[in-house]
Amino acid sequence: MKVFKYLVFFLILALLLLTCAKKEDVILLGEFGSLTGTTATFGKSTQKGIEMAIDQVNKAGGIEGKLLKIIVEDDQSKPEEAATAVKKLVNQDRVLLVLGEVASSRSLAAAPICQNALVPMITPSSTNPKVTQVGDYIFRVCFIDPFQGEVMAKFAFNTLKVSKAAILKDVKNDYSVGLAQFFTDTFTRLGGEVLCDESYSEGDIEFRAQLTSIRAKNPDVIFIPGYYTEVGLIARQARDLGIKIPLIGGDGWDSPRLLEIGGEALNNCYYSNHYTPEDTRPEIQNFIKEFKTRYNEIPDAMAPLGYDAATIACDAIKRSGILSPENVKVGKNLMETINTPDNRKKIRDAIAQTKDFPGVTGIITIDENRNAKKPAVVLKVEDQKLKFVETIYP
Ligand code: PHE
Repeated sequence: MKVFKYLVFFLILALLLLTCAKKEDVILLGEFGSLTGTTATFGKSTQKGIEMAIDQVNKAGGIEGKLLKIIVEDDQSKPEEAATAVKKLVNQDRVLLVLGEVASSRSLAAAPICQNALVPMITPSSTNPKVTQVGDYIFRVCFIDPFQGEVMAKFAFNTLKVSKAAILKDVKNDYSVGLAQFFTDTFTRLGGEVLCDESYSEGDIEFRAQLTSIRAKNPDVIFIPGYYTEVGLIARQARDLGIKIPLIGGDGWDSPRLLEIGGEALNNCYYSNHYTPEDTRPEIQNFIKEFKTRYNEIPDAMAPLGYDAATIACDAIKRSGILSPENVKVGKNLMETINTPDNRKKIRDAIAQTKDFPGVTGIITIDENRNAKKPAVVLKVEDQKLKFVETIYP
């Protein structure tokens, strides 16, 4: 009995020592996202994509034999919390690099912290141009809204063949305000007319006043560059008011919750997005297959974008050379050794040099403005399901 007790004691001690040793020997990355709050599916979906990427890299032996660990912070879908979360990741956890956010306003709140601390940040899916303009340490792996706005304006004017649009946007949301403007620019350039520009704020649940003014103008289409919760409610209330015209929007609609909230009201509506599960490219189909086995669901766009951001980060860390044997001293704490401004600059440079990276969401090349040029897809809601309509190349 006594021998057994000693054995158990030593086993626990050995395990503890092992985990401590491991802890000192991992590459620490940070992630911030909306795991709760008004856009919780954005953060959760991204997190799954990132987790899958990191697991795969670790399973394949890590980077130069060093395993990765990601610290995830929830920002509750609030810009102020995004700033707090990233301060913690950068100052307290001292991560090598930060992944996030989905929403442009939250990326904009956090990016100056990364830029000032000279910690590279990659947003998987923030599309507002201002995000990467914060500084040379801020990157994205998705297209930007001038392109997305153009895609939907051309789609409305050329494919739906409509010339009178109304806009209903979220005034406190950088993404929404920007995308409304970019849509207007192209739509009017093509010869269309924007009859009115109404607004709401994230969290609102009552949109009938704005919809009533829109109805009075008699447009052919309403462009709603918002996020899924409000869009679902707007669609329902529009139909209640007898508005039958198509509602169209951007990537912010993309969530499994959209159709749960909007239901039938969203039939015959369209939005632009980064990916469609109907794409037959092997990269996408293999991704979906593994994602389904892991999480038992079909991913929305944020999962593959999160995955691509994480794999590009790993690839850049590897190419930066900071983990090559001559740079890593045996017996010393790994993060203390490698997490220097010099090394983070090397990672920054390696991300900036990303060229023809075979991502799930497409071939990714980071341009001189630290953005990616990629095609967009247009999706249609039909019988409360998403249907791929077309791919539009930049
Ligand atoms: N592009 C949106 C933004 O910048 C966020 C988003 C990306 C939402 C992808 C859904 C899907 O705010």
